[in-house]
Parts: sequence; structure tokens; C-alpha cells
Amino acid sequence: MVATTPSCLLETPTGPLQIAPMAAEATALAFSLIIPTYNERRNIAAIVDQLTRLLDQVIPGSYELIVVDDDSPDRTWEVALSLRETYPHLRVMRRTAERGLSSAVIRGWQGARGQILGVIDADLQHPPEVLLNLLSAVQADADLAIASRHVEGGGVSEWSFIRRLLSRGAQTLGLLILPKVVGRVSDPMSGYFLLRRRAIASALLYPKGYKILLEVIGRGQIDTIAEVGYVFQERLEGESKVTWRQYIDYLHHLVSLRFQGRITPADKPAPLGRFLRFGLVGFSGLFVDYGIFFLLFSQLGLGLTTSNVLSAETAICNNFLWNDAWTFADFSQQQQGWNARLKRFLKFNLICLAGLVLNTLIVNLLFNLLGFNAYLAKFIAIATVTLWNFWVNLKLSWRVTDTPEG
Ligand code: GDD
Ligand code: MN
Repeated sequence: MVATTPSCLLETPTGPLQIAPMAAEATALAFSLIIPTYNERRNIAAIVDQLTRLLDQVIPGSYELIVVDDDSPDRTWEVALSLRETYPHLRVMRRTAERGLSSAVIRGWQGARGQILGVIDADLQHPPEVLLNLLSAVQADADLAIASRHVEGGGVSEWSFIRRLLSRGAQTLGLLILPKVVGRVSDPMSGYFLLRRRAIASALLYPKGYKILLEVIGRGQIDTIAEVGYVFQERLEGESKVTWRQYIDYLHHLVSLRFQGRITPADKPAPLGRFLRFGLVGFSGLFVDYGIFFLLFSQLGLGLTTSNVLSAETAICNNFLWNDAWTFADFSQQQQGWNARLKRFLKFNLICLAGLVLNTLIVNLLFNLLGFNAYLAKFIAIATVTLWNFWVNLKLSWRVTDTPEG
């Protein structure tokens, strides 16, 4: 095996998942194809060879293949590096800080020099021949060309009934939650597609899990889409990395795209919009708060303070969920993971808890000392505390102060 030094590796981009409108280098190429890998050492040589033969027929010298490997235990990246002597247009990125198929693809695109960007699986389940049809579709006029199992010439090889059902079920769910994105293509789950760089450039991407195509259609500027049929091949070497986790990620991705499609720096939600969203969420919390308060205080006969504290805490949980997924989605998507979310929840709770103390003081003052009606007292308390909550959470929980705009 050829000795390899780290300098042969393509540097992994960091920072926001955002693709530059123009390839930085003067040597911009026609086409860059990303091959994401995780434990694919037994497939990598074959796919690189097949792709090279194909692309050399049509655009010799003006394309690159980029393997983006997530530091595979089987050292796929090392095998890929050893191929570079034979295939000089092959570049290899070894990621150690981040994981996951979708972000691997985007990191690859960020390091790419092509005007057309693409992705293909490394395991030969995506037939390489289809690539030339995809390429000519984008060279003609499509912004996006996808290989689809669900158009003429497409299909799956030996899938069980259950697997077909799961795949179609996921698609139907997608159609229900996100019709404008999922409904635009016959195979939204496809991980084999090409697009024009400018169709996705500048959009801030927040992909989750496996389904990078959803992200591209949901946040890109895509007018024309071409589809080319392909038969999803059986895997001959290595193993699939799909687990139940990908189904959860998929759902999560659908919901966040639903609430927050197309986030580009130019049209980030304005502060006023954020305030209105926070207000609307607070309003929903009011119903939760009043509902639970009514149940505990008027129905179950619990004390005023107990009822008030319990109903308010339930409303806090309700509000956090909505604010995190909607009001502050752009910030929470930059701090992903359960740890970060838990931190935000605790901060939100702490701030609201302080608000709750304020709330309780006000309610008691108005009700016990000044003889206000209990519901009116609560309303005044909530209005005051909402102002406090918005201001402090804006500055602390989602840390708006750390970003250029508010
Ligand atoms: N860098 C990186 N990081 N690559 C990954 C990771 C990861 O975390 N997980 C998987 N890959 C690579 C695999 O090595 C393979 O090249 C490709 O991504 C697809 O992974 P598989 O695990 O083989 O996926 P699959 O065959 O079950 O699913 C494929 O089928 C869909 C059709 O339903 C995916 O490729 C989808 O994109 C495709 O559309
Ligand atoms: Mn596969």
C-alpha cells in the first residue's frame, strides 16, 4: 500500500453548512461527485473505477470524485487515499469532528470545485450508468436531476413486502407533513442526484439524518427537476448503516422543514416575526395554563398557589417545545443534540421559574391583598411575566446576543 501523509487529505470545512455560490479556486471544474462512506473499504475501488470510466467518456479532466469518510473503523479513507495514484481526480476527506450522511455530503460539496454537484452511495446500490443521464439532464436545463425508483425504468431488486411498505409509509408521511417538498419528486428518499451549485448556494442547511434530498428541495432554489429511473441494487459488500434512528431523524427533519423551510441569510426571520411567534406560543400556553388551573383549582380543589405553580409549569413545557421548534428554530438548529436541547430547556425553565415567582407574587398580591378576582389576577400576572420571559430568554436561552442580528 502507498504510504500516505495527512496532507494528501482534503481539509474538512467547518462552520455553518453553507455552500459558496462560486467555487473558490480558479480551477473550477464542471462536476464534483461526492461519495459518502462509512466502512466501505471493500466497495470503494470498484465504484471509483466505474465512475471514472463513465465520466472520462464525457467530461475528461473536468470533474472530481470526493470521498467523504467519517473516520471509518475499517479505514476506508486510507484505501481511498491509496487509489489517488491511479485516479488523480479522486480527493479524500476524512472527517473526525462530525458524523452523519447528510452533513458528510454537504461538507464534501463545500470542499468541491464543480459547478454541478452530485452524490452517489459508495456501495454500488446506485448503478453508476445512470450518472450520465443525470448529468446530461442538469447540463440541459434541470436545476436538479434525481435518480428515482418510482418512475419508468425504476424499481427495487429484492425487497420484502415489509421493507417496501416502510419505504412507502415514510413517503406518505412526508406527503402529509411536507407536501410542497416531498410532493415535488417521485422518490424523495433518493440519495442519488445532481444539482447546479447555484440552486443550493448560500442557503443555510440544517440536515438531519439520512435524507439530504429533502433538505436540498426544501431550502434550495429549485425550479426544474428531472427524474431518471434506476433499479436500487442489492448490496454485495459491507453493511447498510440504517437503523431505527434514521426513521426518527427523518420525522424530525420533516417537522423542522415544515416550520422552517428555506432559511437563507437574506430572509432570516425578522425580530418582529420572532416576537409575534413568541407571543403566539405564549398565547397557546395561556390555554394550557388556564385549562390546568381550572382543573386543579376549581375541579380538584387544590390551593391557589399549588394550582398556579403546576399549571404554569405545564405551560412552560408547552412553550419551550414550540419556541425551540419554531420561534427560535434557526438558533436551536445550530445547537443540535439532546445535550444542547436539555441545556436550553433548563435555562428556559430557570428563567420562567423566576418569572413564576414573580407571577405568584403578583397573583397573591392582587388576589389576597387587593381582592381581585383570581382569574383577573392571573391574567395581569401572566402579561407582566410574558414581557420578562421574552426579553430574558431572547438574550439567554437561545443566545441571540451572540449572533449578528436579533
Ligand atoms: N460519511 C458517511 N457518514 N457516510 C455514510 C454514513 C455516515 O454516517 N452513513 C452511511 N454512509 C454512506 C454509506 O457508506 C453508503 O455509501 C451510503 O452512505 C448509503 O448508506 P447505506 O447504509 O448503504 O444506505 P442504504 O442503502 O440503506 O440507503 C440508501 O438508500 C436510499 C434509497 O432508499 C441511502 O443511500 C439513501 O440515500 C438512498 O436514497
Ligand atoms: Mn446502501
